[in-house]
Amino acid sequence: MASEIRLVPSSGHVRHGSNIGQPLTRRDGILKVTGAARYAADNSPAGLLYAVLAVSSIARGRVTFLDVPAAKRHPSVVEVMTPAHKPPLAQDPDAKTNPFMFRLDLLQSDQVRYAHQPIAVVIAETLEAATEGAALLAPHYETLPARVGLDDGESFVPPAVGVGSPAVEAHGRVEPALARASRRIEATYETPAQYHNPMEPHAIVAVWEGDTLSIDTPSQGLIMARDRIAGLFGIAPAKIHIRSPFLGGGFGSKGLISGPQILGIMAARLVGRPVKLVLRREQMYGPVGHRAPTRQTLRLGLDGAGKLTAIDHHVKTASSSFDDFFEPAAGVSHTLYASPAIATSYDAVRLDTGTPLFMRAPGEAPGSIALESAIDEAAAACGMDPLAFRLKNYTETEPMSGKPFSSKALRECYAQGAERFGWSRRPRAPRQMRDERGFLVGWGLGTATFPALMFEAEARAVLRSDGSGAMEIGAHDMGQGAWTALAQIAADGLGLELERVEFRSGTSDLPDGGIAGGSAHTATAGMAIHNAGAAVIAKLAALAMGDERSPLFGAGNAGVVARGGRLFRRDDEERSESYADILVRAGLGEIDARGKGATDPAAQSAYAMHAHGAVFAEVKIDPDLCQMRVTRVVGAFAAGRIINPQLVRSQLLGGMVWGVSFALQEQAVIDARSGRTLNANLAEYHVPVNADVPSLEALTVEEHDPHVNALGIKGVGEIGITGSAAAVANAVWHATGIRVRRFPIRIEDLMIAD
Ligand code: MOS
Repeated sequence: MASEIRLVPSSGHVRHGSNIGQPLTRRDGILKVTGAARYAADNSPAGLLYAVLAVSSIARGRVTFLDVPAAKRHPSVVEVMTPAHKPPLAQDPDAKTNPFMFRLDLLQSDQVRYAHQPIAVVIAETLEAATEGAALLAPHYETLPARVGLDDGESFVPPAVGVGSPAVEAHGRVEPALARASRRIEATYETPAQYHNPMEPHAIVAVWEGDTLSIDTPSQGLIMARDRIAGLFGIAPAKIHIRSPFLGGGFGSKGLISGPQILGIMAARLVGRPVKLVLRREQMYGPVGHRAPTRQTLRLGLDGAGKLTAIDHHVKTASSSFDDFFEPAAGVSHTLYASPAIATSYDAVRLDTGTPLFMRAPGEAPGSIALESAIDEAAAACGMDPLAFRLKNYTETEPMSGKPFSSKALRECYAQGAERFGWSRRPRAPRQMRDERGFLVGWGLGTATFPALMFEAEARAVLRSDGSGAMEIGAHDMGQGAWTALAQIAADGLGLELERVEFRSGTSDLPDGGIAGGSAHTATAGMAIHNAGAAVIAKLAALAMGDERSPLFGAGNAGVVARGGRLFRRDDEERSESYADILVRAGLGEIDARGKGATDPAAQSAYAMHAHGAVFAEVKIDPDLCQMRVTRVVGAFAAGRIINPQLVRSQLLGGMVWGVSFALQEQAVIDARSGRTLNANLAEYHVPVNADVPSLEALTVEEHDPHVNALGIKGVGEIGITGSAAAVANAVWHATGIRVRRFPIRIEDLMIAD
């Protein structure tokens, strides 16, 4: 149960006044750094068996032979689960009844659709035996040529991109505008496939008791996971209990329950004992989602004064051979720059990969790198400073929809970031700056944007006669600090000090906290908490105001305010009463109420809602070896109300590191012959380590948004990547004069004659 997790008090807590806005340290931090936090794979119930996946070494074809007898001869192997021998499912894993339901590989046939697809599961008394058993299966295959690249297949227009957005959209007429433009920019940018590498791989411990299922597994969406499992196994959702108190990162890969997690549950059913299944690092490169590659062509039209007259953004991307997810990379062009004509379109191919899925800033991460590189090219072509060019094309309404922004402090982001970075000293032409070693120095700018989304959530608030309170919500702390930020909102919502609030979260029996994705969790779960708090306070106030023994009797329309465990008459703060006194007199041990968080459809249709930012990067490049180092990044972000500045800073810095990674390091290298990822490990799939991370600064720019939600929260989980990658690429151009349009930027891209 979540209540077994004792969150220690944060340091830095200001005892009086609002909890919202305080830079509290994360409440689960001590548990994590001392190793006391129990992650899914740390659970070992009595009678536990270990399951290990056997995965395909080919990307397309079928399995013709598995040496099951050899594996079974291993003295500690208990069972081998194969397409021929597995528990029945109540639902076809290839069924798809809503856009958030993705097809899973659950040993439904001998077909292989991608490399690292699970083809069998070996269950044994020890992890070692299960691992050895999986190796003994020595599969044979009938192999077909793998389709691995964006040109390997017939292209088609996807039915929708992202989750249900149209693949073709236009505002104004782009072609005539391009034809009339006094200057045109056309450039094509390529971004690679990237794979999620949370520190914690997907893991599950599953225990069946009859048709009741108890699970430890990391999840960014407990209720969706529970309901998906219920459908697959044909049991009532109430029979499933999922614990997900800690996640070692998710980044989108744990948003929906994955095939391997379900296989762990199937294995436990098959053997009738508790089973633990943990993915090996290389098994993360296949069945648990990834970021699809893109090839994006930007065509920009400009008038003589450097104003955009047309933006055409075409994206070529890829999905798997068996399911639909199309990286919505052109969405950024709908919102960022004023232009009388904007068109976005997509085409795609089907590749022999696992289905690409959400990965931190899906759409905006690769999309902004292309748009912001093209904008930089346009500024250079016009002989303008990149910041001046962006300000010239600044928009106060969302150009595609014509809606005003619910708030937009991007101008202030540009100004504060530029000031902090020292942008005004930047020479306009490239290759003008050197450091004391003679290294080339370049400065680049990228604009950040991410939509302010909300999903649906519910919370239950409790006030008790001992003066304490509780807030229950199945919210997810995947490392972003949700349990701290949400507890701060809970304390304010209940009018209690943080220490007096029991915050219960992280299990599927609690009210639905919504999915922790789309940078929407603080807004979504936070609004449910806020509304639940208001509802229980209203109940308490009704008790007091209707009781003539209460000093609050008859407060009526003037109402009360809740603070520090007391209700105060709004029109006379001398008259107040403690929660405990109200409840004790009413003879109630506790009262509770529920509240929901969801978008306001009226505000949604009236306003465009986005967070924004401006990222400034410095790179230094050795002119002889062409080695690149990012030495400085300053990001200034406006994302509405900041619940916890310390945690927000951590999110923004993390996003900025991802941006550096996107620009210079990350890519899955796919072998064209086998369709396998050659660098499916943390040694060769390059992400920044400490030595690669430069001096980073994240500023938050004040922004009050009265429309996004009552708390004014926009979300910060993903925006940090979006301007940062392009800022680095633009800095590389400024250092060298070389425009690299294929990411990540490699040393060899810069090796041209000096
Ligand atoms: Mo995020 S990719 O919505 O977890």
